[in-house]
Amino acid sequence: MVARVSTVAFQGIEVVPVDVQVQIAGGLPGFAVVGLPDKAVAESRERVRAALSALGLALPPRRITVNLAPADLAKEGSHYDLPIALALLGAMEVLPAVEIEGYLALGELSLDGRILPVAGVLPAAIHAAEREVGLICPAAQGGEAAWAGVEVIAPPDLMALINHLKGTQVLNAPEPQAEGAEELAAAPDLKDIKGQESAKRALEVAAAGGHNLLMIGPPGSGKSMLAKRLPGLLPPLAPAEALEVSMIHSVAGQLTLGKLRRQRPFRDPHHSASLAALAGGGLRARPGEISLAHLGVLFLDELPEFQRGVLETLRQPLESGSIAVARANAHVTYPARVQLVAAMNPCRCGHLDDAAQACSRAPKCAGDYQQKISGPLFDRIDLHVEVPAVKAADLSLPPPAEGSAEVARRVARARDVQRARYAGQPGKLATNAEADGELLEAVAAPDAAGRALLTEAAERLRLSARGYHRVLRVARTLADLAGSDGVKRLHIAEALSYRRIAPARG
Ligand SMILES: Nc1ncnc2c1ncn2[C@@H]1O[C@H](COP(=O)(O)OP(=O)(O)O)[C@@H](O)[C@H]1O
Ligand SMILES: [Mg+2]
Repeated sequence: MVARVSTVAFQGIEVVPVDVQVQIAGGLPGFAVVGLPDKAVAESRERVRAALSALGLALPPRRITVNLAPADLAKEGSHYDLPIALALLGAMEVLPAVEIEGYLALGELSLDGRILPVAGVLPAAIHAAEREVGLICPAAQGGEAAWAGVEVIAPPDLMALINHLKGTQVLNAPEPQAEGAEELAAAPDLKDIKGQESAKRALEVAAAGGHNLLMIGPPGSGKSMLAKRLPGLLPPLAPAEALEVSMIHSVAGQLTLGKLRRQRPFRDPHHSASLAALAGGGLRARPGEISLAHLGVLFLDELPEFQRGVLETLRQPLESGSIAVARANAHVTYPARVQLVAAMNPCRCGHLDDAAQACSRAPKCAGDYQQKISGPLFDRIDLHVEVPAVKAADLSLPPPAEGSAEVARRVARARDVQRARYAGQPGKLATNAEADGELLEAVAAPDAAGRALLTEAAERLRLSARGYHRVLRVARTLADLAGSDGVKRLHIAEALSYRRIAPARG
């Protein structure tokens, strides 16, 4: 007879249904898995065999064939263990085959029969809800699956699952779990940073308008500290956004403790990170850092130290909000709408402005160092700020009165203004950072004094069209922060101060 259980394969964060079919037939004893399994899936045979023997069940001495349909879709990962074991139990008539057909299952088995966490439970649960079937997933991830609103069985081990399905010992349905107040409160606060008022202001502007930010300053000036505090200034994830972010983290196997994510992501990959680690893909298709930072902050510290190819790959997702990864057999697309924060030293030794500490090659070395970043990447960064070394006098100051909560309130107000402004516009933009071209010129038209200043500055600084728009965009955010309808001269003046501070190319 043939027993069936549903499970899934992942393509990006999309779910593809997979049918696990098990047949026990006469013939030489054997156990084969067919249907393009990768190594982890092929090995699932051994785990299933061991897990069943831990229950005191021996495989029948007959020919067992496991087919993963559709056969032309590559199957990756260890989550096929549980559906294979279930279908096998159905074929062995330990469990009623009709009962298990109504479930979608995923989970890894350990040799002693425990069911271990796997990636992708949340998207699988949402898929189960669309198909109106129940879900069987590892106990640790029940809280994640419960969000989909389907019947969820989250057993700790195979024995508990068999007892539940037979009705001898019923498991409680898991409750939906989300990150609570303590996880949210653990975020670092702006209060910890002494002095650095202009850098903090730039951080607030970046948060308010969704602008990318570049900080240039010597080591130890607090660039990393500042970057880590940006997520705390941004509005909390809306429920739909939380689900979107959680889906990506779930597929990446990074959703901790089966809880839905509520915090904006903050990712800071090391500069030695490979292209696959940043962009996604690789042998096992996984979302990269840029997708894990979706709707949050991607922090690239020591920007010029990243491999050039890696940085160039980031340009396209910064524009489009998604990243396409080519694989041997398919293209997958992951969401990647991030706010980029980059930090760099002004030169390799980092002490360009301090004659006592600078190396002998200053200031030429600074030009060489910054040349490593292409103009087009710089162009996608609206805000450039210098973060000078902290003064000893600043460090002995009492902590500032204003912390992340106060700044976040101003940011939220500025974001509301932007959302209302762009609601009637085509395209789904919500922040000034996304506005460009004619739309930008329409919404950010400065008053006469502002226009005069901008025209003069554009000529004197030889601003490119891109640079000109960048000033307008930032000025719009400054006006929104100030609660001003129009863009005025002082907004233009401040926006001009955030333009690129390049030692070489203008
Ligand atoms: N403005 C500041 N206020 C308080 N502490 C600071 C400040 N700037 C730097 N520090 C201290 O210096 C350390 C290094 O800062 P960091 O953010 O790593 O610098 P950078 O990334 O610019 O090299 C921090 O962990 C913090 O203890
Ligand atoms: Mg640092």
